[in-house]
Amino acid sequence: MPENVGEKKKVIFSAIQPSGTITLGNYLGALRNWVKLQDDYNCIFAVADLHAITVRQDPKAFKQNILNAYALFLACGVDPVKSLFFIQSHVHTHAELAWILNCYTQFGELSRMTQFKDKSQKHSDNVNAGLFTYPSLMAADILLYQADVVPVGVDQKQHLELTRNIAERFNGIYGNTFKIPEPYISTVGSKVMSLQDPTKKMSKSDENVNAWVAILDKPETIMKKFKRAVTDSDTVVKVGEGKGGINNLIGIMSAVTSKTAEQIAAEFEGKGYGDFKTAVGEAVIEEVRPIQERFNDLINNKDYLVETYRKSAEFALKISQRTLDKVMKKVGYVLK
Ligand code: TRP
Repeated sequence: MPENVGEKKKVIFSAIQPSGTITLGNYLGALRNWVKLQDDYNCIFAVADLHAITVRQDPKAFKQNILNAYALFLACGVDPVKSLFFIQSHVHTHAELAWILNCYTQFGELSRMTQFKDKSQKHSDNVNAGLFTYPSLMAADILLYQADVVPVGVDQKQHLELTRNIAERFNGIYGNTFKIPEPYISTVGSKVMSLQDPTKKMSKSDENVNAWVAILDKPETIMKKFKRAVTDSDTVVKVGEGKGGINNLIGIMSAVTSKTAEQIAAEFEGKGYGDFKTAVGEAVIEEVRPIQERFNDLINNKDYLVETYRKSAEFALKISQRTLDKVMKKVGYVLK
């Protein structure tokens, strides 16, 4: 009998914005880990499309991005049978709880969010109220499902901290209502750096398209980008100080082949950087090939996609409505 029979699995919640492009960094750093968590946790994942309109979106591209993100996550191995995987805007409780939580979140707290400060500088022509209250919507996402753990990168840690504060404040006023979520610090995730400047994280917003690789890039594009990756004036394929470019390539190679950095160094002893870069390109192409194939199947199978996201949204509504009802009752609303 499996060990965990009878044991209640912990709930994990996470969401990713539908941004158009999923990079190798997103995949190796976050997505691939979600997939691995599916057996050990009760996983709830969402495409955070409500969050996405805090910056202006072109309607046609936005719609395509949401569908693509949903299909791509499935292609990467998010299993809608094992896990709950839905589109945020399909589940109305999110926006409703976000409004209520807004009234339990202080202006001062939101003003201290570094992501708000960064984004309002970057989009100074559109510092809208949604950008400001973005963290209370994120808190609603998490708290609706009574999540135990939330896998977050450094950029979202402050938002999770705020979520905990909001939940504790609400519980303090009305008695125990929300589970206080813990950050999940992944031990397996790898941080992928820019292929052009290994001191920076790989990001699709990098102006230099050679700095990042998208999961859906064509094989020849992937190869070209790896061949152009910056290295150093040394010639040895080995992890070392001042060898940021090579360290990053070794990290990527290790993540996609499961070989250790030492094994990779041994394998490329006496070979040049050119050979190594080609080998990393090939390994990445092999890793994404089945994902691209599944993605192409899924995106052409509209019926399956629609059925899957509808069923998931229905189920998500059922679970989240319980929390919302509890909250509304405590606040004093007249329930219908
Ligand atoms: N804000 C997150 C991001 O941009 C996405 C997100 C929305 C999220 N809701 C969440 C992440 C809840 C974790 C939990 O990356």
